Amino acid sequence: EAASKEGFDHFMLKEIYQQPEAIRNTIERRLDETGRIQLNEINFTKAEINAIDKVYIVACGTAYHAGLVGKQVLKNALQVEVIADIGSEFRYSDPFIDQNTLVIIVSQSGETADTLASLREAKSKGARILSITNVVGSSIARESDHLLYTWAGPEIAVASTKAYTTQLVAFYLLGLYLGRLKETIADNTYQARLNELKSIAKSVEHVIENSIEPAKAIAEKIIDCNSLFYLGRGLDYYSALEASLKLKELSYIHAEAFAAGELKHGTIALIEAGTPVIVIATQSKTYDKTISNIKSVKARGAYVIGITTSDHKDIEQVCDKAIYIDNKQDIYMPIISVILPQLIAYYTSIFKGNDVDKPRNLAKSVTVE
Ligand code: G6P
Repeated sequence: EAASKEGFDHFMLKEIYQQPEAIRNTIERRLDETGRIQLNEINFTKAEINAIDKVYIVACGTAYHAGLVGKQVLKNALQVEVIADIGSEFRYSDPFIDQNTLVIIVSQSGETADTLASLREAKSKGARILSITNVVGSSIARESDHLLYTWAGPEIAVASTKAYTTQLVAFYLLGLYLGRLKETIADNTYQARLNELKSIAKSVEHVIENSIEPAKAIAEKIIDCNSLFYLGRGLDYYSALEASLKLKELSYIHAEAFAAGELKHGTIALIEAGTPVIVIATQSKTYDKTISNIKSVKARGAYVIGITTSDHKDIEQVCDKAIYIDNKQDIYMPIISVILPQLIAYYTSIFKGNDVDKPRNLAKSVTVE
């Protein structure tokens, strides 16, 4: 086991560090000789993609959080309605599905019971099934009409890291590819987005290196807190959901994510003097609104840590601590902004003496309903 950790103390840390390589593998295998995206596994004709009038994305846990980002990516790319749902809810929710519905299933293991049951339910109603999975030949892979593998390599730690970031990449590739096929994305937009996507792995590398010390300092700070909040708006809210799940599952600290604008409708009552609030604020459209939300928790005594890009230095005026991450197009920020929270969760768990690779009560793959 020590050998397979390749010098890292834990699988989780190794897998965090493997993210740039995993992202590169997921992208580079899909580029043709001219550098454009070629998804041979997805065989939609232009007429078929034009006929799709609704997309469902179904997954559980971390894969669902990737699905939430995917919803935004595909909505922009395909200009159709996209709904994201969790497996255990979707299958009992009588979803409106027909042959013009595309159902995208996201699962690292390809074996999660609720996700697999959702796939079967959707298939029986005539939907086309496209799956994003990491395990070749898994049940979900075998039962799907179209497949997009994440080439993350085996993920051993229970808490998902490289599977999540490569699932995001799979959505980015899919959006660009199908958007170009459908011609809902202009060629110059496609080129600009693809060029930026190709540079993401380098930024992730950079963000990992720069996050180690801040993550340790934040872990020290939050280790004894009873409750912590992650806030964000839009794509940052989805990153906040993933960030709080990581912290909960590894540190056993009660951590919740809220859409920053919704906090005032109840949850702000929980903010007390010193309550840690970590705010992810990378989206230009909602940045100013998020600053107002920070001010209102700060006024109630919260200890606020802001995660934003370096062009937003003004965040220092309203936060107790500011962390700057690489600046990419807004749509790609979820892949950059999740790194520091992954490391915060990792170090908080280590400092508490928890079993970081095998947290209590959790399984890597949940094959019962
Ligand atoms: C379990 C794991 C999570 C994972 C979820 C979905 O709860 O602990 O890390 O996100 O299952 O797993 P899947 O293999 O379908 O992505």
